[in-house]
Amino acid sequence: MKIGNEVLGGWKRSHLCTALSAQDIGKEVTVMGWVGRTRNLGGLIFVDLRDYTGILQCTFDQSQYPELFEKAFALRTEYTIAVRGVVRSRGEGAINPDLPTGEIEILATEMKVFAQAKTTPFEIVEDSQVNEMLRLKYRYLDLRRPDMQRILRLRHKVTQITRSYFAENGFCEIETPILTKSTPEGARDYVVPSRVHPGKFYALPQSPQQYKQLLMLAGFDRYIQITKCMRDEDLRADRQPEFTQIDMELSFVDVDDVIAVNEGFLARLFKEILGQELQLPLPRLTWKDAMERYGSDKPDIRFGMELQNLGEVLGNCQFRVFASALAAGGSVRAINVKGGYDTFSRKEIDKLTEFVRTYRAGGLAWVRMGDEIASSFGKFVTPEEMQAIIDRMGAEKGDCIFIVADAKNQVVFDALGALRCECARRLGLCDPTVFKPLWVVEFPLLEYDEEEGRYTAMHHPFTSPMDEDEHLLETDPGVVRAKAYDIVLNGYELGGGSIRIHSSELQTRMFRALGFTDEKAQENFGHLIEAFSYGAPPHGGLAYGLDRIVMLLAGRDNIKDGIAFPKVQNASEPMMNSPSELEEKQLRELCIKLDLPEKEEA
Ligand code: AMO
Repeated sequence: MKIGNEVLGGWKRSHLCTALSAQDIGKEVTVMGWVGRTRNLGGLIFVDLRDYTGILQCTFDQSQYPELFEKAFALRTEYTIAVRGVVRSRGEGAINPDLPTGEIEILATEMKVFAQAKTTPFEIVEDSQVNEMLRLKYRYLDLRRPDMQRILRLRHKVTQITRSYFAENGFCEIETPILTKSTPEGARDYVVPSRVHPGKFYALPQSPQQYKQLLMLAGFDRYIQITKCMRDEDLRADRQPEFTQIDMELSFVDVDDVIAVNEGFLARLFKEILGQELQLPLPRLTWKDAMERYGSDKPDIRFGMELQNLGEVLGNCQFRVFASALAAGGSVRAINVKGGYDTFSRKEIDKLTEFVRTYRAGGLAWVRMGDEIASSFGKFVTPEEMQAIIDRMGAEKGDCIFIVADAKNQVVFDALGALRCECARRLGLCDPTVFKPLWVVEFPLLEYDEEEGRYTAMHHPFTSPMDEDEHLLETDPGVVRAKAYDIVLNGYELGGGSIRIHSSELQTRMFRALGFTDEKAQENFGHLIEAFSYGAPPHGGLAYGLDRIVMLLAGRDNIKDGIAFPKVQNASEPMMNSPSELEEKQLRELCIKLDLPEKEEA
């Protein structure tokens, strides 16, 4: 029997690529990694050897080691190799100040090729511009790129900081089930068939919400978990069907306590990841103010461009678009894009009009403040009204005002809120290295769902109403505010949570407000309602989207960049090719017969 590692054939790595520096000159070392760029300068071949720490130059000299030089000649990019050699200075003029190892190189004395490599479907370089599907099909190659390595290591650092911060603050890490029960309210579930109970299904958790509340009832006091959540909903740039939450909950607290402990966490994260001091306490905006000022419950406050309500100045306006929106109880609101005149030509405004239409706005009215004032509606309003709009918006020469009117306030908010961000993006106001977190608080408890013809919970059905509004739950549910809060960063909802209901009676009232019969509430949530009857501590918590945290701290705008193996738009995964069909035998075991729709003719 042979002893030792045959694959490595007696080779042992002595250093990682970037562990070497000028101090090591003269040492004999062994390094291992992937072949990056190679350059052949006649009698010298330079190979950039890459491992996860970075790049080290290895030099093969024909005059000193002719046989080795021949071997090096056959190297191709992405071969995995080991190089033994002596560290030496690169010499004047050859120093690369962009590399940590730019002063030195290895003069190779021996080499071993572990594996050859086919030509890769794309180059392994920083910030690849390659088609995303191709990158994801070959994700293991994509992840070799230094920027992707950096992001996933940043993610690792975030989870390390999370674990230590919460542990230091008395939080206990507890795992909750992945195979759980489907309940109404929330997104569509991913389900798993049970073989042992034919015809029955587990649901994968959308969040550990009920479990963490039950852990509070169990007396754990402070819980933390970094866990996968699954939601079968449409993908967006900041959404994945399978994502990770940093989920926390604590007992005997109210809103300010939850916010304080989480501000401590965020400050630690910013300090250790970005080297930035976060000014605490963070700003807080009520949901109502966030909507009024930014048209969004996740406002990007890196720039101003706040919404203004033009209702007052247009009270007597005869322009049909404005007048009918106001008459129907809606609103006319506007933003002033400072210096927007040059960026937004008539043609560009046409594109923005299409943009706001995707938010259900009927159109976009505008005023361009050039040498002369031009607008899309000037002939329908009096000069006084036009001046009042300009004054109200504080508009000057070079600015551009955009106005949206609609019978539904929400449409105006959605359209202008999104337009505000789009204009800021176009004007370069969204610096990814500037971070402006804030809390949005006092969300409405309920929102009316036109399709279902009933109220649904804006956060979730376990969220407590604000004490001063609770008495309106039956009589005027639409105005009840919740003890709910979101942490928002640069236009993204980073996390959200609430103080929970902890009495059976209030929870029952809440289910009634959501249109549940007592039987249905009992059937779906009986375990929780009953649990509250055995001594429940007041409790609350919050969950962050870890993938979003990573995306933002890494300065990216695509959630996939922070995930090792993400899903694409149609929820599939191009490398493993999931989801996939099951074998007939597996289906039989699960008592599942498929009834697929006829395939449409191509
Ligand atoms: P919520 O549904 O607001 O709250 O989710 C909390 C945070 O999780 C992230 N998130 C997502 N990230 C990526 N892809 C998705 N599809 C996705 N959905 C949500 C967001 C969001 O802010 N149980 C409650 C929390 C609580 O009340 O404690 C919950 O899940 O960053």
